[in-house]
Amino acid sequence: MIDRRSSPAFLVLSAALLLPWGAASAQGVDEAAATALMKKSGCLKCHAVSAKKDGPSFQETAAKFKGKADAEQKLRAFITTSPKIKVDGKEEEHEALKSKEDAAIKNVVQYILTR
Ligand code: HEC
Repeated sequence: MIDRRSSPAFLVLSAALLLPWGAASAQGVDEAAATALMKKSGCLKCHAVSAKKDGPSFQETAAKFKGKADAEQKLRAFITTSPKIKVDGKEEEHEALKSKEDAAIKNVVQYILTR
């Protein structure tokens, strides 16, 4: 009989489940959670990973902040405090993430910065 608990797939799965969800580092971004929260918040109407829509692509933003020590802080503020922006020449408030949860916000920031 095969001991399923020593199979590689089981070990990988266990390791994934043991990772604390909030500990989103550059390596540990929960992409599904980031995308789901941005979808729920309406972000993807104006942003995509590589294509420019009304807003810059996430790759463009990642490049803009690459190597900047205050990148996380700046982006966090941008996507939680509804700053004024211009869309098609018309001033409006930038959409804020529909979450107050620190770990979830951080996960989205890291998702964007690592595109
Ligand atoms: C109505 C369209 C629209 C929606 C919805 C929208 N954005 Fe934006 N976003 C923009 C525009 C336009 C800019 C560029 C603003 C500027 O540079 O002044 C921008 C800029 C950004 C930037 C770059 C900030 C920087 O300092 O370079 C990020 C990151 C971003 N948005 C993330 C998000 C997230 C996350 C959401 C959802 C909570 C979201 N956006 C929703 C239009 C939108």
